[in-house]
Amino acid sequence: MSESGVSIEVQGLRKSWGAVEVLKAVDFGIEAGGFLTLLGPSGCGKSTLLRLICGLDEVSGGQILIDGKDVTGKAAAERNLGMVFQNYALFPHMTIEENISYGLKIRKVPAAEKKKQLDRVAELMALGSLLDRRPGQLSGGQQQRVALARVLVSGRPLVLMDEPLSNLDAKLRVEIRSEIRSLNKKLGITIVYVTHDQSEALSMSDRVVLMSAGEVAQVGTPKELYEHPANTFSATFIGTPPTNILDSSEVEFPADLGVAGGHKVTDCQFGIRPENLGFPAEDHEFRVKARVQSVEYEGKVFLIHLVTAAGTTMVLSYSGASVPQEGEEITVGWGREQTHLFLKKDGNAIAIER
Ligand SMILES: Nc1ncnc2c1ncn2[C@@H]1O[C@H](COP(=O)(O)OP(=O)(O)O)[C@@H](O)[C@H]1O
Ligand SMILES: [Mg+2]
Repeated sequence: MSESGVSIEVQGLRKSWGAVEVLKAVDFGIEAGGFLTLLGPSGCGKSTLLRLICGLDEVSGGQILIDGKDVTGKAAAERNLGMVFQNYALFPHMTIEENISYGLKIRKVPAAEKKKQLDRVAELMALGSLLDRRPGQLSGGQQQRVALARVLVSGRPLVLMDEPLSNLDAKLRVEIRSEIRSLNKKLGITIVYVTHDQSEALSMSDRVVLMSAGEVAQVGTPKELYEHPANTFSATFIGTPPTNILDSSEVEFPADLGVAGGHKVTDCQFGIRPENLGFPAEDHEFRVKARVQSVEYEGKVFLIHLVTAAGTTMVLSYSGASVPQEGEEITVGWGREQTHLFLKKDGNAIAIER
């Protein structure tokens, strides 16, 4: 089992299929042992990117560096990495033990060492009691744990995972998420993980690369993406429910509000997270009037769906005692530190100057 990962960096990576440009100069990197997630909606180019890193497809431009070495022209087998796909493939006629240790056998790892590595990963992935069974006798979640165990004992310092949990039910997903995360930290292997699920990305990653239509929309830690969305795409993709976006004409804001770069507030949209909206509005500097369309009970909070006079829909996350009722006209408020501003012309975040 690998005890240390390798760094990975992609620079100006491009991919076209015929005339269609699927990836447009993508840049990102992660240090050895890090957990990097490629996040974005279906079709944005995540799997394409992973296949280029893996060496399954040829790049149309740019470079891939693994452990500081350019591997762009190298064959998949020379890149020393492991990969787990959404549809895991175990050998049906082999036991779980044989499946997991297949790579060790191929590499002719001595028996004692093989046993040690097998025991360790079986314990980490809670597979110890299943080693004598065959894949057909395991649940989907157990099979996926075997597929993960197999790649983790493969000795590869870099492992790529393409939506490995999307076939599992919600409870298992959350369990295996934290197993993968703790294995990444315990074994020190570098992981590049693909998902379209923002909560998965936020909960597992050291760094997230948010993608939109073949381009990087934002790169940062989960906290950076949540607290400082770089654009309206990021603000509305990250967080559940997503950030409310309001036109400046709908918002009551302080007269002295100033925007960086000489822009006017009227050039901007406001972004405000549902959990940062205050109700009732008290001495809040920023306010919006809206009508309650519907009320959803979520257990911990109520999600109050609102519509402004201009027809913009927004959501208030509310945990107080006096729940507003459908049809009611209410005012919600928030403070300067919870305000995100985005330029209308390109959707990019712009700083508040005062
Ligand atoms: N072999 C291919 N030939 C042509 N187009 C492709 C091929 N593979 C992927 N694409 C296109 O590239 C885009 C990105 O696909 P993909 O990387 O699979 O997205 P994601 O994994 O983010 O859902 C899609 O529009 C898809 O149709
Ligand atoms: Mg995909």
